[in-house]
Amino acid sequence: MVPRNPYSPGVGTRPPFLAGREGQIRLFERILADYPEKRRNLRITGLRGVGKTVLLKEYERIARRQDWVVVRRDLGPRLVEEVDFATAISEYLREAVEALSLKVRIKRGVSSALNAVGQVQLQIGDEVTVSVGPGGERRAKSALEDRLRRAVVEVGSVAREQGRGVALLLDEAHSVYDRPRQRQYPLGALLSAIVAAQDDDDRPLPVMLVLCGLQPLTANIHAARSNAERLFRAGEIGNLSLTPESQGSLSAAGQALVRPAETIAYADGVAERIARDVSGYPYFIQWFGEALWDATDLDGADLITHERYERERPAIQRSLDEEFFEPRYRDARKGDQRTLRLAASLGGESFAKSDLDAATTKSTGALSVSLSRLIADNLIYRDEHGVYAYTAPLFGDFLRRRHSPLPEDE
Ligand SMILES: Nc1ncnc2c1ncn2[C@@H]1O[C@H](COP(=O)(O)OP(=O)(O)O)[C@@H](O)[C@H]1O
Ligand SMILES: [Mg+2]
Repeated sequence: MVPRNPYSPGVGTRPPFLAGREGQIRLFERILADYPEKRRNLRITGLRGVGKTVLLKEYERIARRQDWVVVRRDLGPRLVEEVDFATAISEYLREAVEALSLKVRIKRGVSSALNAVGQVQLQIGDEVTVSVGPGGERRAKSALEDRLRRAVVEVGSVAREQGRGVALLLDEAHSVYDRPRQRQYPLGALLSAIVAAQDDDDRPLPVMLVLCGLQPLTANIHAARSNAERLFRAGEIGNLSLTPESQGSLSAAGQALVRPAETIAYADGVAERIARDVSGYPYFIQWFGEALWDATDLDGADLITHERYERERPAIQRSLDEEFFEPRYRDARKGDQRTLRLAASLGGESFAKSDLDAATTKSTGALSVSLSRLIADNLIYRDEHGVYAYTAPLFGDFLRRRHSPLPEDE
């Protein structure tokens, strides 16, 4: 039989070996264990491809093993509208209620009345009614908040009676944020609902929220609730470590390469060298691992040597550039592509607006507009110190390799 290539470059695809996340897993297990006496939520942020979704899926498995009801979903840009958000969340909550009612076989009459604006109604047994959903067209600011709070408290109460917990695991959560000017407060409503459910010390409700997404999530939460810090344990995740824990052992990044390969071995030092070359970035580790494995297997060999790596590296890098980075770059408008090229020419993986200003004859206003668009497209983000950085690791490197700055007056 032909051996299987074990690596898994992809979006949220479970890696053959989950490297370097012991701390995050420990933290999650701690939080679960502390329920219901201590109720805490988790926020996971990180660049694209560092393994957020994979970690969230691991959390789901862990929580389910402990009999939690878990609803894991991707949020998306559409849900920034309260109406759509309400419909989505009500659906998640309904799923949780259904999972809870299955287990104890309580008489369950779920009747859902979906009116023109998408009202969802839930009945559990005869006495508990959970209702969420946008009411009339013109809702007061707090309408969604009130309805969500009531629903989350109801769901939490059902869970509490059964001695179980409900965990909402929301991925891509950076796409939902408040927009006061449009009077849209989806994120604020969700956070308030969770606070309401968790804050009652006499009757603590076992409801947990895990929000996972790109860096802007942190600022969005802040903007939605001033005291939001207290609500979340922060779990920023990044590239895998390049430092071995002890002498003679492999770094987490090296392990991610070596551990999955059963039929093919790495010569001394090769895995650590690849890991360094890709800065321990999980997505690239899978990508390089898969390509090198294929090339080695095709040769009928069973060892990845330094020579082989050197020989294969340019082609692997090229395919990565074309399939991973280039489409991102092309997503930006022509004018914004110029901004990206210029920014990258400043070096590194982040830049300051003032340095960009100094490097161009473009007006500072035009630059700001371009940067805002790049942020809206999720190609760059602004960190808490006002520094701009790329949402994909090593994107600056790619731009310098492939797209040097254009002459100004073209
Ligand atoms: N801890 C890890 N060890 C090894 N590979 C990982 C790890 N975390 C993620 N990966 C791999 O990295 C890639 C990106 O993971 P993903 O969870 O989709 O990232 P994100 O959600 O942050 O964009 C996947 O191919 C996955 O298999
Ligand atoms: Mg993801």
